[in-house]
Amino acid sequence: MSFSFVILCQKNYFLHLFPRCQQPPTPFISTHNELRKFWYTLHKKSHHLLHFSQQISKKTKFYTTLQTSQLSRVTTKKNSMIQTRFVLAILLLLSLQLPLFSYAAKIGQTCLLDKNCDSGLHCETCIANGNLRPRCTRVQPLDPISKGVKGLPFNRYSWLTTHNSFALLGQKSLTGIPIVAPTNQQDSVTAQLQNGVRGLMLDMYDFENDIWLCHSFGGTCYNFTAFQPAINVLKEINVFMEANPSAVITIFIEDYVTSPKGLTKVFNASGLFKYWFPVSRMPKNGGDWPLLTDMISSNQRLVVFTSKQAKESSEGIAYEWRYVVENQYGDDGMKAGLCPNRAESPPMNTMSRSLVLMNYFPTTPDLVTSCKDNSAPLVNMLNTCHNLSGNRWPNFIAVNFYKRSDGGGAPEATDIANGHLICGCNSITDCKVNASFGSCQDLPKAELSENSTSMASMIMWNKWFGFYMVLLVMVFSCYLY
Ligand SMILES: *[C@@H]1O[C@H](CO)[C@@H](O)[C@H](O)[C@H]1NC(C)=O
Ligand SMILES: *[C@@H]1O[C@H](CO)[C@@H](O)[C@H](O)[C@H]1NC(C)=O
Ligand SMILES: *[C@@H]1O[C@H](CO)[C@@H](O)[C@H](O)[C@H]1NC(C)=O
Ligand SMILES: *[C@@H]1O[C@H](CO)[C@@H](O)[C@H](O)[C@H]1NC(C)=O
Ligand SMILES: *[C@@H]1O[C@H](CO)[C@@H](O)[C@H](O)[C@H]1NC(C)=O
Repeated sequence: MSFSFVILCQKNYFLHLFPRCQQPPTPFISTHNELRKFWYTLHKKSHHLLHFSQQISKKTKFYTTLQTSQLSRVTTKKNSMIQTRFVLAILLLLSLQLPLFSYAAKIGQTCLLDKNCDSGLHCETCIANGNLRPRCTRVQPLDPISKGVKGLPFNRYSWLTTHNSFALLGQKSLTGIPIVAPTNQQDSVTAQLQNGVRGLMLDMYDFENDIWLCHSFGGTCYNFTAFQPAINVLKEINVFMEANPSAVITIFIEDYVTSPKGLTKVFNASGLFKYWFPVSRMPKNGGDWPLLTDMISSNQRLVVFTSKQAKESSEGIAYEWRYVVENQYGDDGMKAGLCPNRAESPPMNTMSRSLVLMNYFPTTPDLVTSCKDNSAPLVNMLNTCHNLSGNRWPNFIAVNFYKRSDGGGAPEATDIANGHLICGCNSITDCKVNASFGSCQDLPKAELSENSTSMASMIMWNKWFGFYMVLLVMVFSCYLY
């Protein structure tokens, strides 16, 4: 079976993207590599494309005619190649049109690019959950401070926390050696903070006469597992805290530093000492922490915990498990219905520790399945850990790939915990201004679920998807001849 396309395009707006479009059927994409590059460029230049796409739709001078009934064989291999390239190009063009118009899409609605979605959302698929359709999902929790709730003790808030915040997908090691170590997050610490992440987990090692952020083999940092000097990321945090005078940030250090005063030096050099929350102000027997407003106004906005007990007395860095209970990390922490403490932590229901940290991520980070983990199972574990931590909601919710989910994800889990902690409601969105604890407004969850509009766009998308699939099959059958 063969088929052909007729493209009538207008020079003005085809010229810059498809220089040779006026002379079909000259191929403008000659290899698969170029095709990939082409895709990449299309994604990068989304604003340009939107314009382009709107032009197409407005002027409707763009016709594709599919002549499927023409049963003559393609005479030469070359012709078939040319046609194939055209078909692929058409598929690309078609695939660009529909989702680009759904601007400011809500959670769950179809999108193609991040910019199609409302603020606080981005565009992704969750194949691990069977969601092939790209949809808008959340990447930001609601900030309790922007909701005007900042007069409570620090332990009455929940903060989105990134596990191995420094281990970024695709990052090159500053040693110059390719990194042979798992990565846990997709964007920089600055971007994480801008999205409302307020807990950072950083693994620190002595390396190259400095302190580095690193993964290890047997507690040692190698040049192929080292990401970058800690000072770089600490300086990023410093810049953010300067620009955001009400941000309160917590750092959990997995501490392998043995050089004398190593951590003190690097924090000092980063400029972060001026925000240090002193150990002396941390409640030792399960009492309330100082108020968030107090921490902000006294500018003691940086809470730092180390995993090394001795450093509390030697360097004034709080030993984490004197103040925090923390559940098991990795695969063993993901068993439904269980919330065991990690070995170093007291049991989860130890009330002399005022803060609760919940880990929920697999031992081997997995970008693909993380969207599933960060969705319903994360919220289930939140409830489980609450029940098994003396009915306390986690103050820190730590995940891999915090931006990945099939909808609300880790930001929603944080909102849920904040709702319970702050006002006794099922989400911070249900908290009423100035109301007494437990009086909730039951907002309709319209925003959080797919409504008819998004269903319609899904059906539409699926229709197009089916159409592309049919075309692709035809393209490949062309190759077979
Ligand atoms: C990386 O470390 C190995 C041994 O640990 C060493 O042989 C190698 O020269 C190092 N490479 C660089 C570029 O520093
Ligand atoms: C901290 O940094 C200042 C200069 O920025 C330096 O004078 C001081 O010695 C440093 N302190 C420590 C403990 O490193
Ligand atoms: C937590 O406890 C509540 C009240 O006892 C119960 O209704 C709920 O099912 C429990 N949730 C989980 C996940 O264990
Ligand atoms: C909430 O209370 C504060 C002070 O008590 C007041 O200034 C503010 O106007 C109140 N807001 C609302 C919406 O009632
Ligand atoms: C669906 O979402 C659209 C756009 O957000 C909104 O205007 C509409 O009211 C919603 N419909 C329902 C039934 O919630």
